[in-house]
Amino acid sequence: MVKKIRSCVFISGKGSNLKSLIKNSRDYNFPIKIELIISNNIKAGGIRLAKQYSIPYKFFPSDDQKKFERNCLIEIKKRKIKFLCLAGFMKILSSDFIRTFRHKIINIHPSLLPKYKGINTHKRVLKSKEKYSGCTVHFVTPILDSGKIISQRKILIGKSETEDSLRTKILKQEHKLYSQSIIAIFK
Ligand code: GRF
Repeated sequence: MVKKIRSCVFISGKGSNLKSLIKNSRDYNFPIKIELIISNNIKAGGIRLAKQYSIPYKFFPSDDQKKFERNCLIEIKKRKIKFLCLAGFMKILSSDFIRTFRHKIINIHPSLLPKYKGINTHKRVLKSKEKYSGCTVHFVTPILDSGKIISQRKILIGKSETEDSLRTKILKQEHKLYSQSIIAIFK
């Protein structure tokens, strides 16, 4: 069995990417083990998943960013975490925090970066009448959604596509892409 890298997933919402990571990480050869889940939203669906799969989790409010990051660092150190995955985590981490984990934090974003960084991606993609959209897994750097791209998946936008249908279509791809990207990083 590979020696799995002790990892933490940061979430804010539903946690469907977290769920696919949890499932795939149970695979014998998957390079990471999720040892901690951190949420900045007490109502995040991902917290239910943490309980369901008996993974240690912490809720830290992030309105005070310094305190939030300090809490995260304590927990990360305590659990000897070496790799961080952001999965629907809706808070921008400070440059200092990101630099502490240089090349050790990745994120998934629902667009074909470098296009459509930031929020409300699907809405903006549809408004611009793009033919394609997709998702990207990238390393996190202090500049939002701008770190080195690890991998992408492209989808064709249908004629009657809505924000919801596009979100669903892309999320399905995200669930595959995130795990594949982690495998690629540690190959
Ligand atoms: C995903 O589309 C992710 O790319 C974006 O937020 C969404 C989170 O979905 N950053 P979930 O919480 O993983 O279901």
